[in-house]
Amino acid sequence: MLDNKGFDLWADGYDKSVQLSHEENEYPFAGYKDVLNTIYNIVYKKDKAKVLDIGFGTGVLTKKLYDDGYEIYGIDFSQRMIDIAREKMPSAKLIQYDFSSGLPTELENEEFDYIISTYAMHHLDDEDKSRFINKLGKHLSKDGIIIIGDIAFETRELLEQCRKRFLDYWDDEEVYFVFDELKESLPNWDISFTTISYCAGIIQIRKQ
Ligand SMILES: C[S@@+](CC[C@H](N)C(=O)[O-])C[C@H]1O[C@@H](n2cnc3c(N)ncnc32)[C@H](O)[C@@H]1O
Repeated sequence: MLDNKGFDLWADGYDKSVQLSHEENEYPFAGYKDVLNTIYNIVYKKDKAKVLDIGFGTGVLTKKLYDDGYEIYGIDFSQRMIDIAREKMPSAKLIQYDFSSGLPTELENEEFDYIISTYAMHHLDDEDKSRFINKLGKHLSKDGIIIIGDIAFETRELLEQCRKRFLDYWDDEEVYFVFDELKESLPNWDISFTTISYCAGIIQIRKQ
């Protein structure tokens, strides 16, 4: 699993390598642009919303929202990713923080209309994902939504099919979302799944 230094090293070539994987329709980023566009279109329905991006990276998605006038907050543990994103979004509140410890104290009293996260939360194991999502719930505004776009499968069987197909370069250190199992671990949430590609999906989580 990459640590913050690993992401620092990847940051400058990140957009290119992701685009290549997306264009070739290859695991792990098959469907990447559609994931980001779908989330953008959901958020865009609400005018001037307050958005928190968990693991914003080079800011591909949040920059679009920033340019549209959305109030952007973000956390990421890679200094180089933050530098790249900050150049694109000078007024966004970008905080260096490791989300495996939850959210930073600066955000303790903040509420968001959307908490989004793309291709970042697979760095948590399944138990920590549910724990983190429960914590994020406390930072949602009344009709707020958590939207996660990631390497994700509706069932374990679909994950296994993909793993067998890409066995040579499957990353066993990453823990991909299995929607059926996540749903069971979050009984107090209204949660839905949209398939985007054979290895990507969007999970929307709302208060019941
Ligand atoms: C694969 S990139 C995704 C970037 C962006 N969201 C996107 O969709 O292109 C993962 C990002 O999550 C960040 N990240 C991974 N684990 C993290 C952690 N434990 N705490 C904070 N940031 C983390 C990395 O630094 C990186 O910027």
